[in-house]
Amino acid sequence: MKLSKLKLNPSNPRIIKDDKFKKLVKSIKDFPEMMEKRPMVCVTDADGKFYPLGGNMRLKALIELKYKEIPDNWVMLADEWTEEKRQEFTIKDNVSFGEFDWDTLANEWNVEELSDWGLDIPNFEIDEETEQEEDKIAEAHTKLTDKFIVPPFSILDTKQGYWQERKKVWKNLILDDGSKRAGKLAKRTENWNEESDTYEIMSLFDVSILDPVLSEVLLKWFAFENCKTFDPFAGDTVFGYVSSFLGNEFTGIELRQEQVDFNAEKTKGLNAKYICDDALNVLNHISENSQDFLFSCPPYFDLEKYSQLPNDASNQKEYKDFLQILNVAFSNAIKCLKENRFACIVIGDVRDKKGYYRRLPHHICDIFEANGMKLYNEIIMLEMIGRKALTANRNFITRKNPKVHQNVLVFYKGDPKQIKTIYPKIEIQEDESTDV
Ligand SMILES: C[S@@+](CC[C@H](N)C(=O)[O-])C[C@H]1O[C@@H](n2cnc3c(N)ncnc32)[C@H](O)[C@@H]1O
Repeated sequence: MKLSKLKLNPSNPRIIKDDKFKKLVKSIKDFPEMMEKRPMVCVTDADGKFYPLGGNMRLKALIELKYKEIPDNWVMLADEWTEEKRQEFTIKDNVSFGEFDWDTLANEWNVEELSDWGLDIPNFEIDEETEQEEDKIAEAHTKLTDKFIVPPFSILDTKQGYWQERKKVWKNLILDDGSKRAGKLAKRTENWNEESDTYEIMSLFDVSILDPVLSEVLLKWFAFENCKTFDPFAGDTVFGYVSSFLGNEFTGIELRQEQVDFNAEKTKGLNAKYICDDALNVLNHISENSQDFLFSCPPYFDLEKYSQLPNDASNQKEYKDFLQILNVAFSNAIKCLKENRFACIVIGDVRDKKGYYRRLPHHICDIFEANGMKLYNEIIMLEMIGRKALTANRNFITRKNPKVHQNVLVFYKGDPKQIKTIYPKIEIQEDESTDV
């Protein structure tokens, strides 16, 4: 039969990708006898041409192989079929019932050959990687959902071994090393002073990332299981990750789109949502009286500049403009919090151009107090001293104590008498609490 007696099916519902097509061409070239045992099932059109209901791709391959003639028995006609039957066959001919037994295939066949024959071999390596990743998460989950309690004093010592060990587990899980911000953010240079208001781009080494263990401890102490948590100045992935990983819902507002995209990617599969907007607009995204825990680590004025955006709190020329942003954002955020709930703000003081402290933590207390949330605890978080030691000598010429702590301000909204009924009892072992 002349191949020109056949034409491609004008309404064929199947497509074939290039590499698969090449494999099909090769397959027919290597093993043409198969065409005889499995002919193309065709019907005749008005002009007397045959077109395949089953075997359209093989016809395409025969054309590619420049066949002029083919044996008659490579074609089987099904002209007697009704239109419905023809349609049914077209689909059924392409459906594969049953599944491959990959173990048997791998043991008894040659995998390369199988792939040459057009079989899609699943990538078991990737599956193994996914499995390892899942194991890692499950293992971390067991470690991290235990009753981890640090001594509940007003000082949190992040230098302790138990703290650092736990931080490692979280860091391996979260994998946000600050690279999204390194090379972009600016910090005050080491010789920053009132005359030379100079900044330098931060390296990966400098970028500050929230401590995941701090996030965990605050959630344990001042929130409860399965609660709704939020942060109007979300920044890095850490708090949202920790909170949602522990089973809470999290909503983060953040001004920089790239950070939002990065965080969303990192927290895929968890109950965390990141919204790119100005913190001032928190009420556009979160309803009043709907949240159980407010957490935030806002910019420390211009200590680190996060962007050049005009509404970036860290990008304000005047301290009063920066405070005004915090004022509106936190006043609105407090409205989102239910009654009898806590808010934790992680903050550090910054010096003015003359070298005096601006009293930023106090100003935050004023904002919260003006909105009905009084200061309930002040926790000092001791940081790893590390590189601070290097600059200590130079700083101390002007008698500035190098700062090795941050403040965690804990505010309460409502009636403190309710605390013991709303918040679960935490067992604190005597010997642990004397560790500090
Ligand atoms: C100190 S960081 C968040 C804390 C986190 N520990 C960190 O270092 O990324 C403050 C975040 O607030 C964001 N931000 C600044 N001004 C904002 C505004 N008006 N609305 C929302 N986010 C803002 C910055 O982009 C930055 O990511």
